[in-house]
Parts: sequence; C-alpha cells; structure tokens
Amino acid sequence: MLFFERVKHAAQFIQEKWGTAQPGTAALVLGSGLGEAKDLLEDAEELDYAEIPGFPRSSVAGHASRLFKGRCGSRQVLALSGRFHLYEGFDPTETCFGVRTLGELGVRDLILTNAAGALNPQFDTGELMLVSDHINLTGRSPLTGPNHDPWGLRFPDMSRVYDAQWRARALETARRLGIRLERGVYAQVPGPQLETPAETRMLRILGADAVGMSTALEAVCARHMGMRVLAISCLTNKNLPDCMAGTSHEEVIEVAGKAAGRLARLLAELLRANESGSAAR
Ligand code: HPA
Repeated sequence: MLFFERVKHAAQFIQEKWGTAQPGTAALVLGSGLGEAKDLLEDAEELDYAEIPGFPRSSVAGHASRLFKGRCGSRQVLALSGRFHLYEGFDPTETCFGVRTLGELGVRDLILTNAAGALNPQFDTGELMLVSDHINLTGRSPLTGPNHDPWGLRFPDMSRVYDAQWRARALETARRLGIRLERGVYAQVPGPQLETPAETRMLRILGADAVGMSTALEAVCARHMGMRVLAISCLTNKNLPDCMAGTSHEEVIEVAGKAAGRLARLLAELLRANESGSAAR
C-alpha cells in the first residue's frame, strides 16, 4: 500500500471510531516527557496507536503511543502522545505519519511541542521557547518521493512556517498567565546522540537557539498540507560549548515533566482563545 493510502486508511479507522472531526478541530503533538499536557483535554477518549491500522509505534521512553480526542472549551482537540523519530529507524516520510493522519482528518491548526537543548546562553533550563523558525539539519525531507497532489504542492513555500498571528497570541497569552516564553530558532538534528561542544558551537553560529530531534520535519509536512502551525519547545538542558554539562534522556524527561503543567495551562488557554482559521497554502 502506498504511504498516502496507509494514511487514508488510518484516518478512516479513526473516523469510524470517533466520527468526522468537527470544523475548527485543532491538534497537538506532545513531545518527550510532555505527554501529561494531554490532561488539558476535557471528556478525553483515547486510542492506542497499535489499534490504528498502519500506524507506526514509538519505541522511546517518555512517549505514550496514544491518540487522544477531547475538548478545550468548545473546541475539539486531538493529541498525539508519542511521535516517530529518524533515530528509531523511521524514514523521514514515516516520522510524519501522525501529522499526515491529522491533516487527513481535517485538522487545520496544529501545535507541535518538543523537548530541546538550549543553545542560547540567555535561556534557562525548564523554560518554554516559542519557535519562530527552524533549521532542518537532518539532511532529509519528508516530502521526498512522489508528491501526493491533493495534500499540497511539489515545492511548498517555507517562508512562514510558524504562523505569525498565532505566535503573537501565544506571547500575549503567556504574558497574561505569567508564564515565561522565550522566542527562538529550533534546529532539528537526526540524533540519537547528543551534541559535542564543537557541534553546539556550530549550531549557535548557524543561528539556532535550541536543538532537538523532532518537529522541523513535521512542520514541513503540516505546511505542505496548508495547516496553521505553532511550535513550543521545553528547554530541558543547556547546551553551551564552553561549559557542557552532560545530559541524559532521563534528565530530559524529568525536566520536561516539571514544565508540562505550565505548558498545558498555556496550550489550554491558547486553544480556547484562538478561533479557527486556516493558513494559505
Ligand atoms: N540536543 C538534542 N536533542 C535534545 C536535547 C539536546 O541537548 N535536549 C532534548 N532533546
């Protein structure tokens, strides 16, 4: 079965279980240790990825492998808890299976979250960062191969990946809630190894404020499908070339877990406040 057929099949199964997505349905992708943010959903129902035909399964600790459906106020929200990474052996197209399925279900507004290392020396561990742009350093694209025209263009524009209006609203909402929200450029690397001091120096020179192993490829797919995209990183460790502290996955999960409540408050408020609207292709 071709990739787009597998995605359609998965979406059909979800629709048969939960009915057609309501207009204005938004979706979240929850990063490492941030799965608790799903608690922001009211009347939540869930499906294990294993139940959904063709759906890949995440093998990473801190990722739950479940799709949730619930409400934030009057808005229907879907949440993918558990994503697929290049370092697990998935090819770039496959890492975006979840995002493609959300698009196929009619989601037009997508919020991506992740755990990331802070490269900007002014950022503190445990804080959140609103992604203003990204650098895809994986050397791969999820759009490689035949283009599925109903999804989007062969050469999609990436000049405005993260919606400016939605970002402004996120900053304003964070200010109102008293939640610190930094702003910066996110670099996606393939992983799974963390960076050497020389690599973090290079990333900083390239203009990145945070580094992680997800999100950019998903954002590319979401924009390819014409979705409106927002991304928020949880800065779980500092990645400063002259004083590298050493990081473990356990530490990343622990710090992200501590920030998850704050992130959930911000997301809930954003999803409630933000009326639906889809971005231009
Ligand atoms: N580097 C890459 N990915 C990460 C990091 C990091 O320091 N922290 C969390 N994810």
